[in-house]
Amino acid sequence: MGRITFRRLEDLEVAGKTVLVRADLNVPMQGGRVTDSTRILRLLPTLQYLVKKKARIVLLSHFDRPGGIFVPSLSLSPLVDAISEALGGRPVQFGVDCVGPAAREAVARLKPGEVLLLENLRFHPEEEKGDVQFARDLASLGDVFVNDAFSCSHRRHASITGIASVLPSAVGRLMEEELHMLQRIFSKTARPVAAIVGGSKISSKLALLENLTSVVDVLVIGGAMANTFLYAEGYDVGKSLVEKSLKNTAKNILARAGKKGCRIVLPVDVVVARSLESQRGNKVVGVDHIPAWGIAADIGPATVKLFCEAVIPCKTAVWNGPMGAFETAPFDSGTIMLARYIALLTGKKQLRSIGGGGDTVAALARAGLEDGFSYLSAAGGAFLEWLEGKELPGVAVLERASRKARSRA
Ligand code: 3PG
Repeated sequence: MGRITFRRLEDLEVAGKTVLVRADLNVPMQGGRVTDSTRILRLLPTLQYLVKKKARIVLLSHFDRPGGIFVPSLSLSPLVDAISEALGGRPVQFGVDCVGPAAREAVARLKPGEVLLLENLRFHPEEEKGDVQFARDLASLGDVFVNDAFSCSHRRHASITGIASVLPSAVGRLMEEELHMLQRIFSKTARPVAAIVGGSKISSKLALLENLTSVVDVLVIGGAMANTFLYAEGYDVGKSLVEKSLKNTAKNILARAGKKGCRIVLPVDVVVARSLESQRGNKVVGVDHIPAWGIAADIGPATVKLFCEAVIPCKTAVWNGPMGAFETAPFDSGTIMLARYIALLTGKKQLRSIGGGGDTVAALARAGLEDGFSYLSAAGGAFLEWLEGKELPGVAVLERASRKARSRA
């Protein structure tokens, strides 16, 4: 992959200007509180630069998948305190909408060096549709645009590709670091490569796995993602999270992997629970004995061993998505044990390891393993698409803008 050059923060006139920063504030939360602030902390270099330059900073982000309607529990307002705390107590204002009069008035009140967070972009269906007028409405709030959300740059959404087509744009510090590190690591990928994929965003990631089988040598599938594969193989997965309608997609992936010489490794045992809240009656069962009442909440010990062994011959491992319901102990055990083993191989220089995604990074932080991997990317789905060699629309639009700016200079 050739080196791509982008316009950086320094290439934009930001002093005293209103700077729209597309961030990824889709952070892990529980009960209205941020449980992992890694994505916020990684935005700091961009925010601190802009504060120092006395820019008026307007943060734009989505949170979760509200589906184009206002969902109070998916408001970004609980993030105000977490962002303010990360900025050393600097006040952060909140705008109750990301477009329209409420947004315009909130922006108009901003003084140089101040930060404003606007409400969840995905409360408007136009965001995910990449609506041109919606992008223009967003763009009209600022003078320049900074994309610091590499983790969302695989989405052709209004705030990702649309604003960048209208305003002078640049990459933020985090996006710059992500592109630089991933290009560096994968410019000479040491083989064999293992991809470990889990998590609960099954439908959006399942299709990605099909292409990954052409890129990696070993594909380890755990977490809720594995249930659909187990179901496709004819196992009864009880009350586990499963996408039954994707049975054939899962079957195709298994068949394609066989043809491509990619080894797929699926769980052989799981920890089943009646509910994620209660630990009563939890037990380890083989995947052929998941009871009708059971939710597969974590991978079992035989699976942990199998997954570790699958990674041993590999020189590079990329990991996206936890192996179980890691937010609730003890269902974080499988994820933590596998992460520890990968960190051990990484420490011995036997393996280059790259973790990606909000939940994955949160799970590694929970295990105290942030420094045990060669690199941690804030991006999950975007990282996997990048790995497949796909053009990310949010990156491509900035590249075009940078090329245009250079040819004008
Ligand atoms: C992520 O968490 O990977 C990003 O925030 C993108 O979220 P999405 O998959 O809902 O677009």
